[in-house]
Amino acid sequence: MSATIEFVIDGKEIQGQPGQTILEAAQQAGVYIPRLCYMKGLVPHGSCRVCTVLVNGRPQSACTQPVAPGMVVENNTEKVTALRRNIVEMLFVEGNHFCMFCEKSGNCELQALAYRLGIAAPKYPYLFPTRDIDMSHPDVFIDRNRCILCGRCVRASRDVDGKHVFDFVGRGPHKRVAVNAEVRLADTNLDVRDKAAEACPVGAIMKKRVGYAVPIGQRLYDHKPIGSEIENGKK
Ligand code: SF4
Ligand code: FES
Repeated sequence: MSATIEFVIDGKEIQGQPGQTILEAAQQAGVYIPRLCYMKGLVPHGSCRVCTVLVNGRPQSACTQPVAPGMVVENNTEKVTALRRNIVEMLFVEGNHFCMFCEKSGNCELQALAYRLGIAAPKYPYLFPTRDIDMSHPDVFIDRNRCILCGRCVRASRDVDGKHVFDFVGRGPHKRVAVNAEVRLADTNLDVRDKAAEACPVGAIMKKRVGYAVPIGQRLYDHKPIGSEIENGKK
């Protein structure tokens, strides 16, 4: 039997289990910690840093940091929110995100997070990179303009689907998601039912012909901010 680990987030006492991360223990207690590269069921990657919290005053990624007794965690404070705002703003300018033309709008975690954090327009200059779109697969496309390099597709394909369809290649500004075929997604063994086909938090990997199945205005984040399902105890 494992003992409970008690710690504090924003003054609220939380009880976690040994081996749980801060993000998981917080979520269980109805406290939302923003995240993008984290996805339930996938090994945490710790790459987007959106889940950054201050643990006893020091920044840590909540999706990878295990709980420890007596931790004092800052999550929903002005300082931490400002950090997250910066990260999300940089993600917006680093890619080509045109929400008004994107079929993921309303279901997009990046867009929803921007709204939740109160971002109207990024303060950084847009880079407008040249990225490619691969529509070759009959059922799934990848639009790298919208990719935030979260690695969820990579981990889902490798660890859940057992296929390794996606992986990162290149470094720095040249880093991108590649497929395990010479060039085209169509030449991989990706299937529309794969976890990797539904793991993308943005509109970079999407199933074809279902983008507008749910009308705009009736989508996941159209009425309630991202994270409210956790705060309302529904997740
Ligand atoms: S394609 Fe989507 S899931 Fe894959 S790394 Fe880019 S944003 Fe993440
Ligand atoms: S959600 Fe923790 S680093 Fe991305």
